[in-house]
Amino acid sequence: MKINLIALQKHGDERGMLIALEQMANIPFEIKRVYYMYGTQANVRRGYHAHRNLTQFAIPVCGSCRFHLDDGKEKIDIILDDPSQGLLIEPSIWHEMYDYSDDCILLVLADDVYNESDYIRSYEEFINFVNS
Ligand code: TYD
Repeated sequence: MKINLIALQKHGDERGMLIALEQMANIPFEIKRVYYMYGTQANVRRGYHAHRNLTQFAIPVCGSCRFHLDDGKEKIDIILDDPSQGLLIEPSIWHEMYDYSDDCILLVLADDVYNESDYIRSYEEFINFVNS
């Protein structure tokens, strides 16, 4: 499985850092939705789903968390701990997030609005979906 970590250009000076996110530029899709997770408890594991069509891009704007990624053949765990780097989550990737730091703010950009019917929330259904 190819892990698509995208480095975001930092505009830093003596005042601090600034990163800009632009659709079809450093974000490789049109951004239709933005959401963020914060205050996640340390022992919580969330996600447990894949999407049929949705592409997302996750950035740990503060703190860190781990991603468990599974394409149905291979499973990989990575840490996101750099606000100047984001993870592209393509459709058909089962993902779980865990080990959120207390200060973690995980920002997610998505190429479509929220649509529950795009979710695959059963692992068995996910395996059938990727093999079909
Ligand atoms: P949920 O799907 O449980 O998050 P995750 O699986 O990533 O841990 O989402 C939590 C709640 O938020 C659920 O009631 C659906 C709602 N929600 C929205 O209304 N809009 C959104 O864009 C997202 C991602 C979730």
